Amino acid sequence: MASQRNGAALSLRPVSLSVPLDTILIGDCVAELEKLPPASVDLVFADPPYNLQLQGDLRRPDQSLVDAVDDAWDQFESFQAYDIFTRAWLLAVRRVLKPTGTLWVIGSYHNIFRVGSALQDLNFWILNDVVWRKTNPMPNFRGRRFTNAHETMIWAAKGADSKGYTFNYEALKAGNEDLQPRSDWLIPICNGAERLKSESGVKVHPTQKPEALLARVLLSASKPGDVVLDPFFGSGTTGAVAKRLGRHYIGVERDRDYAAAARARIDAVVPETEESIAAAPAKREAPRVAFSTVVERGLVRPGARLVDERRRHEVVVRADGTLAHGSVVGSIHRIGAIVQGRDACNGWTFWHVEDGAALKPIDTFRDIVRAEAARAG
Ligand SMILES: C[S@@+](CC[C@H](N)C(=O)[O-])C[C@H]1O[C@@H](n2cnc3c(N)ncnc32)[C@H](O)[C@@H]1O
Repeated sequence: MASQRNGAALSLRPVSLSVPLDTILIGDCVAELEKLPPASVDLVFADPPYNLQLQGDLRRPDQSLVDAVDDAWDQFESFQAYDIFTRAWLLAVRRVLKPTGTLWVIGSYHNIFRVGSALQDLNFWILNDVVWRKTNPMPNFRGRRFTNAHETMIWAAKGADSKGYTFNYEALKAGNEDLQPRSDWLIPICNGAERLKSESGVKVHPTQKPEALLARVLLSASKPGDVVLDPFFGSGTTGAVAKRLGRHYIGVERDRDYAAAARARIDAVVPETEESIAAAPAKREAPRVAFSTVVERGLVRPGARLVDERRRHEVVVRADGTLAHGSVVGSIHRIGAIVQGRDACNGWTFWHVEDGAALKPIDTFRDIVRAEAARAG
């Protein structure tokens, strides 16, 4: 196994010694992945060849040649050959992925449907397809089709019953002005100072992905100290972003020149401070707080009226931390479910107190109790 080590010694969590962390393995990804221990990787980001099937030169209206991806590594003799290749690397990835791990694969209309079908055939479970919409796509020079302005990323768990995979929902929502994170991402293609170029100004790699895209993937679906594998490392975008965000990386790349460029790029990356990348505590991992504690602490007083967000239902808070809806008494969750005619309800987010003209969810008071508990150690 040829390898290039990058001094990104980020050991935020102990990981088995036999996993070659922060390393670029040079070779075919299927062969290299077979040398890794099983279930050793938390997250995979794969940017495989797209099999673009270009037919002849592509020229602009002024007849200048478009710098298209016509490299040998992107060419396959048939769809069948591409499918065999896809299945082989997906199986290799599957073996090294932890049961809690997830896989992202990026592609375009040329290949992503074939990849999606192979993923499902191999029992991966698709969680989302995320559309990367480009702010600055390459124009359609012939005017015979729509401008191809997006790529698709499939995000998949190992199986339909996979539990415990990382999705930093609350942090993503908080960073998105408290709106749920969406599956369409508007991000420019990689250019400017970020684009690796040779001394003569030639692009080092034809398909270098933007770091902003990888940052969003890693911040969404991994934690600091996780092991992130990229089986098609190219110019090392995944490794550069992983190092910056305090994740470990393993890259596999067949082409020595790309691997060398990736190593130099990653060596120059300065990691963010631990404080700025530390995982935000997820609500479901936070210590349990009973609504009766909120009432005991006087944050919501007995006799107070709670309403839902649209003020359609009103209940009374009882001194023991239960709610009364007419003659029915129960927990914040049960009464929330009953008034809506549902089986279940998260009472913390459903019920609100009047706060002047506005409404405040009772979850706010749970946060206060938790913050006090954290301060008390
Ligand atoms: C689409 S590019 C990845 C670009 C990368 N995401 C970046 O930002 O630079 C695919 C890369 O996979 C490499 N490659 C193709 N087939 C491979 C294989 N079987 N094993 C390892 N690398 C391979 C190619 O040399 C190419 O650099």
